[in-house]
Amino acid sequence: MTSSLMSTYRSGGPQYVAGQGAVLFDAEGREWVDLLSGLGVTVLGHSHPRWVEAVQEQAARLVHTSNLYPQATAEKVARHLCELTHMDGVFFSNSGTEAVECALKLARKAAGQGQHAIGTHFLALEGSFHGRSLGSLSVTSNAGYRSPFAPSLEARFVPRNEVQALEEAFQRGAPAALILEPIQGEGGLHVLDIAYLQSARELCDRYGSVLISDEVQCGMGRSGTFVAFEKAGVQPDVITLAKPLAGGLPVGATLARGPLAQTLRPGDHGSTFGGGPLVMQAAWVVLDELTRGGLLQDLAPKAKRLTAGLDALVARHELASERRGYGWMQGLVLPGQADAVQAAMGELGFLVGTAAGDVLRLLPPFVLTSEQLDQALTALDDVLGAYPQPLPCTS
Ligand SMILES: Cc1ncc(COP(=O)(O)O)c(C=O)c1O
Repeated sequence: MTSSLMSTYRSGGPQYVAGQGAVLFDAEGREWVDLLSGLGVTVLGHSHPRWVEAVQEQAARLVHTSNLYPQATAEKVARHLCELTHMDGVFFSNSGTEAVECALKLARKAAGQGQHAIGTHFLALEGSFHGRSLGSLSVTSNAGYRSPFAPSLEARFVPRNEVQALEEAFQRGAPAALILEPIQGEGGLHVLDIAYLQSARELCDRYGSVLISDEVQCGMGRSGTFVAFEKAGVQPDVITLAKPLAGGLPVGATLARGPLAQTLRPGDHGSTFGGGPLVMQAAWVVLDELTRGGLLQDLAPKAKRLTAGLDALVARHELASERRGYGWMQGLVLPGQADAVQAAMGELGFLVGTAAGDVLRLLPPFVLTSEQLDQALTALDDVLGAYPQPLPCTS
């Protein structure tokens, strides 16, 4: 049967019909350990009892009124996010790409209001992925994604972790904003150096550009701190969050600091659904479980175990050339074989992802148990062990 869905995804594999914690069940009743969280989303796992109860209760009471009226739960969630990130204002939308879109608009508007003469263009990094709407696509480095939809907004791409190249890009013209991911997700789990993040801060201060940390994938504790930029000891001006924020319901959040939080005025931006009662109730449960519920604290020893396990696999298997990422966002570089290893893990009942062609990507739910993690590492060890070793390079 031909599909009535547009063919934007190469989806295949089993039809998942239910989930419990870190386990998914397919239509035949087979169990799968989910090490991908639906691409970094379901951090509380599937069917988390408190999340389900809150969503059911809210759905039965009130789902939508619009932003024409006060939204008490959105206020509560925004305040909690600001406390956790030391930001001063939040705009809620429905996805990561919208969170980035709002950040770019914020920077454009602020660019005309500051004391510095800065351009309307954006600076972004090679390997970046910021979304699929025209603005966020413009700052996404993969030319194959952008070119069918040209012309983009003006964006210039610089190599990651090269401070001098960044400095030269600013010298050629200060951008409205520099946008970066502290851990590049789609780009292949590349980590930005602390010194690079600090230089980005220093250059944005010097030239008056807005610094945007896109934490749609690496934020909300996945890196080990609530936002990954925290590790640099300095703050970005804007942070974008999305994927895990509401535990599986669609949400995006753009957080801004200082006067930037006051830049957008009535009529400048909006969203029919953003910050509605249902999704905010879900987000409140996620934030509360991560913080008061101790889920973030529990992640540290498991992340250590994951790091050690992946390092051991790199030491044991020639095919695994490198471990990438950190915290609960890690993976292995498997040149030319990431898809095959992903499929082999699937055969054993473990759902994993890939990134940038060669990288096996793990974005486990935060509720994955140490036992499930050990089972996954053993399965990966078996798969890599069974794999033919790569042929020696003859050139
Ligand atoms: C860093 C980053 N920014 C933005 C996006 C876009 O998010 P969404 O797919 O929710 O629009 C993604 C999605 O993978 C992402 O990883």
